[in-house]
Amino acid sequence: MTGVAILGFGTVGSGVYDVINTNSGVLELKSGDKIEVKKVLDLRDFPGNPVEKVLTKDFEEILNDPDIGIIAEAMGGVEPAFTFTKRALAMGKSVVTSNKELVAKHGPELMKLARTNGVSYLFEASVGGGIPIIRPLCVSLAADEILEISGILNGTTNYILTKMTEEGKSFDEVLKDAQQLGYAEANPAADVEGHDACRKIAILSSLAFGETVNYEHIYTEGITKITHIDIEYSKKLNCLIKLIGSSKKSKNGISAKVSPCLISKEHPLSAVNGVYNAIFVKGNMSGNTMYYGSGAGKLPTASAVVADIVDAVRHKGLTVNIGWDCDVQACVADIKEADVKAMIRIASDNFEAAKKSIIEVFGDVQFVDLDVQDDEFAIITNEETEGSMAEKVEKIATMSGVGEIRNLIRMEA
Ligand code: HSE
Repeated sequence: MTGVAILGFGTVGSGVYDVINTNSGVLELKSGDKIEVKKVLDLRDFPGNPVEKVLTKDFEEILNDPDIGIIAEAMGGVEPAFTFTKRALAMGKSVVTSNKELVAKHGPELMKLARTNGVSYLFEASVGGGIPIIRPLCVSLAADEILEISGILNGTTNYILTKMTEEGKSFDEVLKDAQQLGYAEANPAADVEGHDACRKIAILSSLAFGETVNYEHIYTEGITKITHIDIEYSKKLNCLIKLIGSSKKSKNGISAKVSPCLISKEHPLSAVNGVYNAIFVKGNMSGNTMYYGSGAGKLPTASAVVADIVDAVRHKGLTVNIGWDCDVQACVADIKEADVKAMIRIASDNFEAAKKSIIEVFGDVQFVDLDVQDDEFAIITNEETEGSMAEKVEKIATMSGVGEIRNLIRMEA
């Protein structure tokens, strides 16, 4: 029998408890051992809930219980999850988690500590909730050099953008709906400012390229500046706006970013709507593969956490190798060196003069006019570096006929 402790009885923690109890037969078959929840750590009481029998408020009780071999950390945030995880690994207990904040910030240190103690630190649920992506990257695609990885990594923002497109609502209106439905947090910054997607693309990049990608070095832009006028342009261009996290190897290092992006309706990611996530991987041997499913939610996320428990049981006495060199820091390329193509919205009271100015600076670009907004137009630039584009945007802003630059949205190249 392998005893498990769950840290935190919130959405994910209670899901882990349910998955282990509901699927005990399946888990025994897949892992070759009986898996049992021995303790659940939470400061709250849950009167009437069967979890009461195993509830504790004292982490030491878990740490000192020799029957507990695996800990599912479902607390979220950096502390106290970081301290508890370090202490558990040092005591020779494997730790599994959905905590992307902790993995992105301290993953390498925790993986090294796990190795030193002959156990594992696993985090399948930290990216894409219930979508298998970490194990496919390090097991199924182990024979490939990964060239590129990109995807819709945040369900809340994908829900907001989908509703803005389908129902013509404003960002603020849909955000309120998302909060009422429990998708978005009361403080939605981590999702809508792109920080959650940034941590996830940092974790995926580290696994894909085998070196530690520091999330603080990744250019990140959220969806708060997207308006219904941007959505109207996307429709006119037969595109959709999605928040995309992407990462690829370039001559300057790893070129990674998170930003809203106009993608064609033909693009495989365009079919990913609502709270769903999808991740697209390009390998040098396997070609293109895509992984799709529920990016969040109690049971899908808990299923991924419990799958890591099964993996840890299968590898008892060993450290699961996930192909991430924790001692090597990846070089993240300066965003200014990345290639980009964009739609830029420009206000003007003299279209003829403005278009002349723009051609002078940007050369031959495509112009897009919108019937519902007659004091502006948009341009579709050619591909160039981010640095060069930023300089040109600054330059046109001072030229004849050009008013406010209302938005710049990157486009799939
Ligand atoms: N807030 C995240 C999302 C939850 O909306 O995708 C899963 O990490």
